[in-house]
Amino acid sequence: MIQLIRGFKDILPGEVERWQQIEKTAVALFEDFGFKEIRIPVMERTELFARSIGEDTDIVEKEMYTFPDRKGELLTLRPEATASIVRSYIQHKLYAQDPVRKFYTIGPMFRRERPQKGRYRQFYQINAEVFGIASALMDAQLIFMLMTLFSRLAVVDVEPYINSLGCPLCRPNFKTALGDFLESKAGDLCSDCTKRHQRNPLRVLDCKVPACREAMTDTPSILEFLCPECDRQFEILKNALEKLNISYVIDKRLVRGLDYYSRATFEIKTGLLGAQDAVAGGGRYDGLVKALGGPDLPATGFAVGFDRLAELTAPKAADSARQPDIFIAALGETSRSLAFEWTCALGLAGIKVEMDMSDKSLKSQMKRADRLFAKHVLIAGETELEQGAVILRNMATKTQVTIAIENLVDNVKKELAK
Ligand code: HAM
Repeated sequence: MIQLIRGFKDILPGEVERWQQIEKTAVALFEDFGFKEIRIPVMERTELFARSIGEDTDIVEKEMYTFPDRKGELLTLRPEATASIVRSYIQHKLYAQDPVRKFYTIGPMFRRERPQKGRYRQFYQINAEVFGIASALMDAQLIFMLMTLFSRLAVVDVEPYINSLGCPLCRPNFKTALGDFLESKAGDLCSDCTKRHQRNPLRVLDCKVPACREAMTDTPSILEFLCPECDRQFEILKNALEKLNISYVIDKRLVRGLDYYSRATFEIKTGLLGAQDAVAGGGRYDGLVKALGGPDLPATGFAVGFDRLAELTAPKAADSARQPDIFIAALGETSRSLAFEWTCALGLAGIKVEMDMSDKSLKSQMKRADRLFAKHVLIAGETELEQGAVILRNMATKTQVTIAIENLVDNVKKELAK
C-alpha cells in the first residue's frame, strides 16, 4: 500500500472542521482590519528564497525542496510566503496607486525539517503582510490581531516575545560586539555555528542546539546598540502593547530564522505544545522590497503556524450544522429513482440531505440515518407512494407525518420550519 510521505499529513473530516473554523475566524478578523486576500504560487524560482531568506539560514541551507525542472531551471516549493508576496507586490507594481497595501494568504509551506509533534514537512501558515507603513504602531497592531485571533479561538497560554534587530545603521555595531563574544565561545559552538559565525553571527543566537544555547546565555543584547530611531520605534511598540493591555516578554535572543528582518521581531509562544512552542512569528522587513528590485518601502508581517494553532484549539463538539436535515430512505427501484430526484432538489434548496443509493433494508437505512445524526428521515415506501405521499419522521421526537410528494420541497420546508 502506498503511504503518505514522511512529515506530510492528511487532514480528515472530523479534524477539518476545526481548520475551517480557524480559517473563517482569521479571514473575518483580517478583513475587518483592512487586509485583502492574495493567492500566490506554491513554487518559485529558488533564487527568490535564497536571496530573501538568506543563504546562511537553516531553511535555505538544508530544508528546501529544490529541484531542476526539465529545462534545468532551479525551482523550490515555497518554505514560506513572505518572499512570494514581496515578489508579487513588486512584479505587479501594487505600490503604484498607494504604497500602503495589506495582504493575507493561507496555504501550505514545505520545509524538510526533522518531523516531530508540531513540526511537519508540509505545514500550513496564515500570513498577513503590510507594505508601506514604517511606524511600529503597525507592528503593535499585528500583535494585537494575533492575540485577538487566539482569544476568539479560546486559545490560552500564549504570550508575545519581542525584540528589535536594529537597522543597517546600528546592526553592524552589534554584529561586531557579538562577533567578539562568539570568538570567546568558539570551542563551545556546534559545527554549523562554527562555520557561520563569521559570515552571519546573528544565526548563532537562533541556534537550537543545547550547547549553543548554553554558550549564548550572556550574549550582548542588540537593544543596547540600537540607533536613536530604532530605539524610538521599539519604545512606540512597547507603549502601544501596554496601551492594548498586552503583556509581553523582551527576548534579546529572538532573531528569527530568516535573514530579512529589521527592527521589530516577534513570536507568539505557548507553554502547551512542548518543544515547538512558537505558534506565530513575524516582524519588520524594511529592506526586502528594495533588495528584491522594488522601491525602498517598509514592510512588516507575520505567519501563524496553522497546524500548531489547530492542535491548540479544542476539538469542536459535534457540529449540528453538519447533520443532515433529511435522510431519504428509499425502498425499491421506483422509490430510489424518486428519492434521487428529491435529493438533488432538496440539496439545491439548501436543505442538507442524504440518501442510501444501494438496495438496503429499511432497518439498515434507519441505522445509517442514526449514525449520521439525521434530524428527519423521509421514508418513501411503496404504499405511501401509490397514494402520492411519503412519511417524514422526526428523529428527535419520534413522531411522523405524511406529506404529499407534489411540491415536495415546499412541503418539507414547511415541516422543517415547524
Ligand atoms: P517562521 O517563524 O519561519 O516565519 O514561521 C512562522 C510559523 O510557522 C512558526 O511560528 C510556526 O508556528 C510555523 N512553522 C514553521 N515551520 C513549521 C513546521 N515545519 N511545521 C509546522 N509549523 C511550522 C515565517 O515563515 C515568516 N515568513 C513569517 C513572517 C511573515 N514574517 C514576516 N511576515
